[in-house]
Amino acid sequence: MTESPVLTADDGAVRTLTVNRPDKLNALNAATLDALLAAFDAAAADPAVRAVVLTGAGPKAFVAGADIAEMAGLSASEGRDFSLRGQRLMRRIETMPKPVIAKINGFALGGGLELAMACHLRIAADSAKVGQPEINLGLIPGFGGTQRLLRLAGRAATLELCLLGAPIDAARAQQLGIVNRVVAAAGLDAETAKLAAQLAASAPLALRGILDSVTVGGECAIGEGLQYETAQFGLMFATDDMREGTRAFLERRKPAFTGR
Ligand code: COA
Repeated sequence: MTESPVLTADDGAVRTLTVNRPDKLNALNAATLDALLAAFDAAAADPAVRAVVLTGAGPKAFVAGADIAEMAGLSASEGRDFSLRGQRLMRRIETMPKPVIAKINGFALGGGLELAMACHLRIAADSAKVGQPEINLGLIPGFGGTQRLLRLAGRAATLELCLLGAPIDAARAQQLGIVNRVVAAAGLDAETAKLAAQLAASAPLALRGILDSVTVGGECAIGEGLQYETAQFGLMFATDDMREGTRAFLERRKPAFTGR
């Protein structure tokens, strides 16, 4: 039996998904894209899961890109379908109703960086390298890289990374706003666990309100975004968690959020 391309492990309310093709540096073939999509659908639907961590198996790579061996023989229409398959997964992650952290434990190249950019937060080992090297294959990013990198890091950095194709280290990625945090490789697991635990203990409906508002706001005019934010803000007043959070503050105690 072949091993699953995506491993699932739960620690309390934190679900960790691990891309599991370490001998291919976790390259994304069609089967892995499909397995990730199913894993994110399951995490979204499971009320016991309050935060998701996404990482890669083995010591070298988060994900070293779309699977070059699989792409090499595709026709134009198959290439388009492969792009749509990848983009569908990235959109699924970006629009998850609970926070997703990319734990970048090594190379995040091409589709690997696109995968990390679809997540809501990125924490990287200081040894990690990220980039969009598709140009070196006569290709362009096809899982949303030209669009999400543009929105994360701006036009200059996007054109530099995509046109030149050279990977950058984690420190430069942080300077450019591509990753949120860089930590010593030995501390990556512990720092990620801390971050995930904080999110898992936060008010789930408010987390969702923030995720939805930021995603919607990134794709519309500010007036529309502000209206959306107001609607979400108003909805929070119908939640137990808002009552609990405000009461706990006034009573000088820690809130216990239930997601209701
Ligand atoms: N697709 C398919 N296979 C990949 C891959 C990818 N994107 N990236 C790595 N692999 C495979 C290699 O072919 C190799 O397989 P093999 O042992 O069966 O020959 C294995 O993973 C290990 O990779 P290797 O290149 O030997 O490791 P390295 O440490 O010498 O180099 C990288 C690491 C990341 C610099 C190099 O693998 C690389 O450049 N990968 C492609 C990056 C890329 O262009 N990504 C964008 C794709 S659109």
